Amino acid sequence: MTAFYLSKPYDPPQAPQNLPLDRPWALLGGNSPQQFMKSYWHKKPLLVRGAIPAFKLAKRQGEPLGSAISAEELFKISSNDAVESRLIKAKPWTFTDGPFKKKSIPSLNSPDWTLLLQGMEARHPAAAKILSWFRFIPDARLDDLMISIAGLGGGVGPHYDSYDVFLIQMSGRRRWRISEQKDLSLNPDLPLKILKRFQVEHEWDLEPGDMLYLPPHIAHDGIALDAGCQTWSVGFRAQSYKEILQEGLWRLAESLENLPELEKRFADPKQTATSQAEQLPEELIKQVAQKLNNLKLDRIETFLPGIAAYLSEPKPQAFFDGTARELSPKEFGIQLTKQALKPHPQTRLLTLGARVYCNGEDVTTGQTGATQKAWRALASKKQFQGSMVKIEENDSLFEAFEAGWLVF
Ligand code: SIN
Ligand code: CO
Repeated sequence: MTAFYLSKPYDPPQAPQNLPLDRPWALLGGNSPQQFMKSYWHKKPLLVRGAIPAFKLAKRQGEPLGSAISAEELFKISSNDAVESRLIKAKPWTFTDGPFKKKSIPSLNSPDWTLLLQGMEARHPAAAKILSWFRFIPDARLDDLMISIAGLGGGVGPHYDSYDVFLIQMSGRRRWRISEQKDLSLNPDLPLKILKRFQVEHEWDLEPGDMLYLPPHIAHDGIALDAGCQTWSVGFRAQSYKEILQEGLWRLAESLENLPELEKRFADPKQTATSQAEQLPEELIKQVAQKLNNLKLDRIETFLPGIAAYLSEPKPQAFFDGTARELSPKEFGIQLTKQALKPHPQTRLLTLGARVYCNGEDVTTGQTGATQKAWRALASKKQFQGSMVKIEENDSLFEAFEAGWLVF
């Protein structure tokens, strides 16, 4: 029998509020977050043996640790249609999207399959706690925590990602093979992204508690060496410049809605008689150029609110249950003095100067000073508790609570 039946669940600690950025971390192989960012981040792979020392310690004491989430729990989560899940089988390669009924997932003891579950930080507190360790990297870059569970030999095949990823071994062993090869062409005949050629340069067997960091475009292949092998991947996204600019630009276009001076119509009392009626009038060009200039549409500061709003959008699959707890604004204010308000695990918060963006919206402009301060605490500390003066119906904190974006 494989070890996963014997191991105790690992209970990860929540990271401290103020991360020691200049001190060595076991998680980063003895590098401080500052050193890690300077030498490895978005540059080169890093293998860390004993990234979570608790695993080695427990093994030495004869009480091995395993994942905080059991296989059974993961299978149950994969039946939820709000969870993005995929089942991949090898020999031959097949690919199915979830949700999955229990009977459509191969048994733990059968080989060559893997189940991938995205956005797990919203499904289990242990996954949310693991994410808290990575807040030395900007929140804007974070994608999510994905968990894979596999039968012996299971994997997704040799491929590359466009993301930075920390692959944490949580249960059983996985053999990782990687390559910095230039040739990243894919096999066109397969239902998933698998490299045509894979020239292995390094190979490591990861034990529970080990971690492999990979920057984008490193070819890699992870194969489960034990049934019930679990790998937790903390992924960091990066959009194309095109996407960032397009998203920023359309939000900027939308923000023109709120400018009354733009409601006025173009006027050309100075237009002279023309012999080139087909040409775009000079007068129109001159006036529009003036408006662009006045609105500072060519300046980065004008774009940034749209970009911050865009990067704070939750995942399309995010689901917020606004009816979970109904309180009046007054009751909400009282509750705030008793209990910490926290962002829902799928809520995204970003700040731009003093402004806070939550799930795609500017939640601070036009709000009271106390509300703005509370939002800044929520964005940086991920929680807020305190007494507020009277809370109105249209207070953005209260509205976000009603929408399920913030929870007690
Ligand atoms: C896995 O956990 O099996 C796959 C993760 C990856 O290669 O990105
Ligand atoms: Co990958």
